[in-house]
Amino acid sequence: MCGIVGYVGPRSAQEVLVRGLRRLEYRGYDSAGVAVAHNGSVAVSKAEGKLDRLVARLEEAPLQGRSGIGHTRWATHGVPSDRNAHPHTDTTGDFVVVHNGIVENYRELRSELQDTGVRFRSETDTEVLAHLVAAVYDGDLKEAVRDAIARASGAFALVAMTCHEPGRIVAARMISPLVVGLGDGETFLASDMPAVLDYTRRFLIVEDGEIAVVTGDGATLETIEGEAVERSPFTAHWDSDSVQKSGFDHFMLKEIHEQPEVIARTLGGRLREHPGGGAETALDELSWVRGDPADVDKIWITACGTAYHAGVVGRTLFERLAAIPTEVAYAHELRYSNPLIREGSLALAISQSGETADTLAAARLARSEGSSLLALTNVVGSSLAREADDVLYTWAGPEISVASTKAYLAMLVGESLLAIWLGRARGVLDTGAERELAAELRALPGKAESILGDLDKPRRLAAELARAGSIYFIGRGLDYATAMEGALKLKEISYIHAEAMPAGELKHGTLALVTEGTPVVAVATQQDVQSKMLLGLQEVKARRATVIAVAYEDDDEIGLVADHVLRIPRTADVLSPILAAVPLQLLAYYTARRLGRDIDQPRNLAKSVTVE
Ligand code: F6R
Repeated sequence: MCGIVGYVGPRSAQEVLVRGLRRLEYRGYDSAGVAVAHNGSVAVSKAEGKLDRLVARLEEAPLQGRSGIGHTRWATHGVPSDRNAHPHTDTTGDFVVVHNGIVENYRELRSELQDTGVRFRSETDTEVLAHLVAAVYDGDLKEAVRDAIARASGAFALVAMTCHEPGRIVAARMISPLVVGLGDGETFLASDMPAVLDYTRRFLIVEDGEIAVVTGDGATLETIEGEAVERSPFTAHWDSDSVQKSGFDHFMLKEIHEQPEVIARTLGGRLREHPGGGAETALDELSWVRGDPADVDKIWITACGTAYHAGVVGRTLFERLAAIPTEVAYAHELRYSNPLIREGSLALAISQSGETADTLAAARLARSEGSSLLALTNVVGSSLAREADDVLYTWAGPEISVASTKAYLAMLVGESLLAIWLGRARGVLDTGAERELAAELRALPGKAESILGDLDKPRRLAAELARAGSIYFIGRGLDYATAMEGALKLKEISYIHAEAMPAGELKHGTLALVTEGTPVVAVATQQDVQSKMLLGLQEVKARRATVIAVAYEDDDEIGLVADHVLRIPRTADVLSPILAAVPLQLLAYYTARRLGRDIDQPRNLAKSVTVE
């Protein structure tokens, strides 16, 4: 939520900052701004709205200078406007800050500063930090930042610059993520690695409670208490290609198309040839699984949004394949629900970014109650990854579109591997069953590819959906989880109201809203409940709804009740959510496209929700 970039080096700072912000726009796009130091002063340019508005301003009035900071905003305090856009300055204009997160005690700080005569120009919490830094500055920006953040509470990252110390930027991380990119005679700062992948792949992570001092020669780290920190840089696997649209009209479409490869990558190395033939799951990367899996008496899954939907699938996988009672809870609910988490349980926190504030808080809570913490995340070095006892990475690569697609599929693949591994280790699955599932897993990339080979049908159906006021998504068992994800995808990018429910629930109230032509998207892959699903669809058809089904390619019966069928290749029912999500992603994409929506950056949303 909000993106930060910083640069010190020989290039035009404006250029580096704008390019970095372009890569970070998915973190917020209410406004953008940059500040560049030059000839003993700092110049600021900012604009409400998307980055292009700032770029237009910079074209008219470019900023010269070789060090600077930039920001792309997702509004928390104060409406999106030029005034509230970052960077914020102190009264003199000598000090400039950008900030990601929330300063919780900003009201008190603001009124204290007002009492000393400071006049505020914005409604943001951030501006107090600019004034605080200026008020305590005594010749060393690092010390001023240290003093300022000691007075502020909340989860945030702050980057500050002053014209009094050209070529030096100071950043502090109080929970919200920050990385330093190391170049040759140039140094970068960013909320996220993709911002600067065009320039470097060598990174240092700034840990929670640390201050980084960035110059053209690199960065030094120390704790808030002033202790020096030595940390070796690491090389990111991601490259700048993975953050380009590569010929696709939108990142979302590109990421949907990457899914076969993502499935293969997430499986990679985790299926090992079995001496007796076939493959078995191998999760040697987890130290936890080297313990006794029989000791796990309960799994608590926690996550938000799409990752939560992956958790809903996970619950069935862990219960069915490994016979472990599993609860799945929204992180923001779990935190405040006094859950009965006990020692011996495993908390599985799922998060693409590994930075979602609520998920992190719920994971910490579970851990403090005695469970061990396993992270299922896509971002190496993310907060969640670093706090967890073990990490199972989903190798989806950077996901830029705000609507999650490939990261979701990778989460499902990760959970399937884990459930199968646990099932065999606990004696619930025999070797034969494990090999059958492993073979099914290996076939998934090809099957996903074949779904992507027919874009015509989702495109045509999108024309029908684009006219709807409300769309219902239904399914039973695992298909209900897929329905939830399908509805979320559709509503977040098309802005059409969509609601998911277990198919059996429809007749307990919502059926009253189903009239002639109401679109009902029915996910129907689970064979154990298929006959019930078909019966339910008859009831929906009797109300003259338009039924769009997602079903296996060889399911003959579904065509008798559904108006349209989006076919997927047959697989084991426990793995079908991995394939069934794909046509629903396409339906959402083409519907939003038809409506001319801003697909990669839907209104009011941001990719990484780092505020509670
Ligand atoms: C929806 C979407 C969000 C995220 C949610 C959690 O398409 O992307 O619902 O899934 O904000 O984000 P992570 O997985 O980063 O914790």
